[in-house]
Amino acid sequence: MGCQYFDPCQGGADTFTVAIPKYTFGRGCLAEAGARAAGLGMSRIALFTDPGLRDGPYVATVLDSLQSAGLDLAVFDEITIEADDASVERGAIFVAEGNFDGVVSVGGGSVMDTAKASMLYGLQPPADFLDYFAPPLGAGKAMPAKLLPHIACATTSGTGSECTSISVLRINHMSTKFVLANPLLLPQEALVDPVCAETLPAMVVASTGFDLLCHALECYTAKAYTRWEKQPDPGKRPLIQGANPWSDLAAREALEIAGKYLERGVASADDHEARDQLMWGASLAGMAFGNTGTHLGHALSYGVTHLMQDVTTEGYRMVSPFVPHGISVIVSAPSIFRYTAEATPERHLEAATYLQSDLAGATPADSGEILANRIIGLMQKTGAPNGLAGVGFGPEDVPALAKSSARQVRAINNAPRETNLVDIENIYAAAISY
Ligand SMILES: [Fe+2]
Repeated sequence: MGCQYFDPCQGGADTFTVAIPKYTFGRGCLAEAGARAAGLGMSRIALFTDPGLRDGPYVATVLDSLQSAGLDLAVFDEITIEADDASVERGAIFVAEGNFDGVVSVGGGSVMDTAKASMLYGLQPPADFLDYFAPPLGAGKAMPAKLLPHIACATTSGTGSECTSISVLRINHMSTKFVLANPLLLPQEALVDPVCAETLPAMVVASTGFDLLCHALECYTAKAYTRWEKQPDPGKRPLIQGANPWSDLAAREALEIAGKYLERGVASADDHEARDQLMWGASLAGMAFGNTGTHLGHALSYGVTHLMQDVTTEGYRMVSPFVPHGISVIVSAPSIFRYTAEATPERHLEAATYLQSDLAGATPADSGEILANRIIGLMQKTGAPNGLAGVGFGPEDVPALAKSSARQVRAINNAPRETNLVDIENIYAAAISY
């Protein structure tokens, strides 16, 4: 392994686990859905998508492929742009009543996350919706031994959900999002056809690209897995296991891709090289964070989506209030990495290098500033909102934002520094505008 960052710690974990699906990438691969579903033994399929994609070419390709393979199916498309408990409750009824033996999802993170959770709640409904979520939010109820085989087909270049055992759901009565994480939720196969990226609006490429970037950057700078407490029972080991040599590998490449292609992919839908690379980078970042966990970037994004008011974002079919996930993450990111760099400056400098930052005369002590400036530069060049003020927040909102995000305990503990409520307030206060 040969990396000082993962040196053993007393009482710390001495193993790490890598879980990824069988993965296919390439132009035209959506047409393989039928053969692959048949290969997994599927005969009657629950096809999850969203209303915007349902009548479009990607779903048509998958439908043709499944039907040509002689497979029976039914379509569920009652999915909002951010996966929520209401969509999952509807999806669970669809799964419970449909007599399915397989699931295919075609869409972005919301579709894939809804498909994962709908299987869980449809096949093994708990007494209370939150029972499967980790304490203190939920009861940490054990999930069933097995769900249905799932082929996840990603149509955006950000979430990486096709490669993770994670479903992020908005709990509507709490107005915020929480993470369901269990190996059971990992799709058996992922199909990523970069043709899907050609029709994404520029602002969607920017938002999903910033999500990709932060997945990779948070993995690369996360607390080392050796600094998490050792869990002798492999069945109880958390997926949020901290940075590890595997996640380094995938995160490094994803950061290089974000640094090289994010701006180009936003600037032109005709830049196929850039958009293809962003699709690949999104999967790589998913393969990283699915085996690492994110940290403050994502934890602090949930306060933003919880408390946003009267704000909309160009390029999305949503009414106010709506801030796309990647934007909710990136608005605080420069401030976050200025803060975390103090803990592991060399790592942050390495990350800045992979992102192709300006490193002239740089030392590790400058790494937070360099990384922050690189992110701010990408935000400016892609027309992203300028900090929290750009999505409707001011200094007076800082205490409420911090209180909301402080509930994301596991992610906050995955940061390379111990972080308390006052630290979170300070990070938000420095993220109002750049
Ligand atoms: Fe994300």
